[in-house]
Amino acid sequence: MKILGIDIGGSALKGAPVETKTGRLLAERFRIETPEVVTPAAMAKIVAEIAGHFKWDGPIGIGFPGVIEGSHILTSANLHPKFIGCDGGKLFAKATGCPVTMTNDAAAAALAEMRFGAGRGFQGKTLLLTLGTGIGSSLCYHGMVVPCEFGHLQLRGKSAEHFVSAAARKRRDLSWHKWGTELGDYIRTLEQMLWPELIIIGGGVSAKGRKFFKYVKPRARMVPAKFLNEAGIVGAALSFGRHG
Ligand code: BGC
Repeated sequence: MKILGIDIGGSALKGAPVETKTGRLLAERFRIETPEVVTPAAMAKIVAEIAGHFKWDGPIGIGFPGVIEGSHILTSANLHPKFIGCDGGKLFAKATGCPVTMTNDAAAAALAEMRFGAGRGFQGKTLLLTLGTGIGSSLCYHGMVVPCEFGHLQLRGKSAEHFVSAAARKRRDLSWHKWGTELGDYIRTLEQMLWPELIIIGGGVSAKGRKFFKYVKPRARMVPAKFLNEAGIVGAALSFGRHG
């Protein structure tokens, strides 16, 4: 099946048609920077622009950086608060004229990685973390993907993503060493509760694993996402038709 996958992120929206049997992008991805302040109505226009770019009139799977229940958005830590409570499925279907399914962005990335990427064929407990504007997380086990919100584990009274997301590294102007070490403390805290066997790191920074993986020192085997930053697009397409 051909499905348009769209990954809504804090820094950019990215989309491409995906062949769901193979996970391959059928065209070069199209990227639009996320405006600093963007209401749901304005975001719907951008999503429609992406669909228009591909002259798309088929199904669309959208990954969103928040908790999704059914097609409703329950949280919006790094985007406009007006998204909270919004029926994203309805909003984007109306803007594009296409059937739309919503899913959490990190759950989308996990689906792609477990089916076609770094976790392919692996049945053991896997923690996927996406490091970008925020921290996305999912737990995978025997083919199941469970969207989680470990980026909001509280550290010093704030969400962990405030300190150790990829955006936080830049904002705090940290060296790879300092950031990688703090990221390691965070990941080992998660390990004490979750005991994953495999950790997959996604998000734009996953391409720079050589610069910081050596400082993280987790118990589990840690690998970069095979789809790097495109896992979100592929997974958004794969998640079409699933609940939340
Ligand atoms: C959101 C998650 C999302 C993550 C990555 C967090 O702030 O709460 O739902 O997966 O950012 O975008």
